[in-house]
Amino acid sequence: MALGIVRPQLPATTISTVLGRATVNPEDPARIRASIARAHLFAALPISAIEDLSQRVAVRRIAAGAAVVSQDEPGDAVFVVMSGRVKVVLCGESGREVTLSILRPGDSFGEMSLFDGGSRSATCIALEATAALALSRDDLMRHIQAHPRTAMNLLGEMARRLRKADETIAQLALCDVNERLIHRLVGLAREEGSNSAEGLVVRRRPTQQELANMIGSCRETISRAFNQLARDGLIIARGRALIVTPALIERSERKKAA
Ligand code: CMP
Repeated sequence: MALGIVRPQLPATTISTVLGRATVNPEDPARIRASIARAHLFAALPISAIEDLSQRVAVRRIAAGAAVVSQDEPGDAVFVVMSGRVKVVLCGESGREVTLSILRPGDSFGEMSLFDGGSRSATCIALEATAALALSRDDLMRHIQAHPRTAMNLLGEMARRLRKADETIAQLALCDVNERLIHRLVGLAREEGSNSAEGLVVRRRPTQQELANMIGSCRETISRAFNQLARDGLIIARGRALIVTPALIERSERKKAA
């Protein structure tokens, strides 16, 4: 397999739970419409387009730890996260995992294989109990024919993802682990932190292994770098939360400007 990347071995029960259609539940139509309207993929669509989509989608409920799509399988649907979080991962033959992205409500995934005809490029796993809207390839294509604005949105999403991937490549080539860790912690705080007097509070602190998977390092190295930042007072680990201080945010911005 290319690049030594393998499909993760998920427990059989996990796979059948997720891929089985039994997980599709009827849902409140108003909630479905609200989820469509807040999705970046469907931003600024006219009411008629949102109505059209709401007739075509199904709600999929995914248990924590289960895969919604698995690397190398054929793709037949695109998903929009309604609630919960989904991580996008590649797994190496050694069992090591690279986290490409963490998706939150409003984010979508599963479109790449629908457009390039290849297999799923990555595995998408629910980090917690998650609900997602599923739209089949046929329904997406029919919707786009009537509402080309969705195709423009899709291009925008792909461009944003490529930009982020470029940034990650540059960081891997140009920054040391400390700088990558600081950048990721500040990114995380901006994505899901809430304001407090001490800084941005990330309610669920990622584990050191998760941070290592996000920035292409190993747990031991992250542990040393993380503890040093804590000793320097730039981050505060409190219970399950993490506080990213304004000093760390400033340091990350100074680095970017340099
Ligand atoms: P697809 O290849 O159909 O299935 C796996 C999905 O993971 C893919 O579509 C994208 O939606 C998503 N994905 C792949 N790479 C990335 C990335 N670098 N960042 C965010 N999402 C990604």
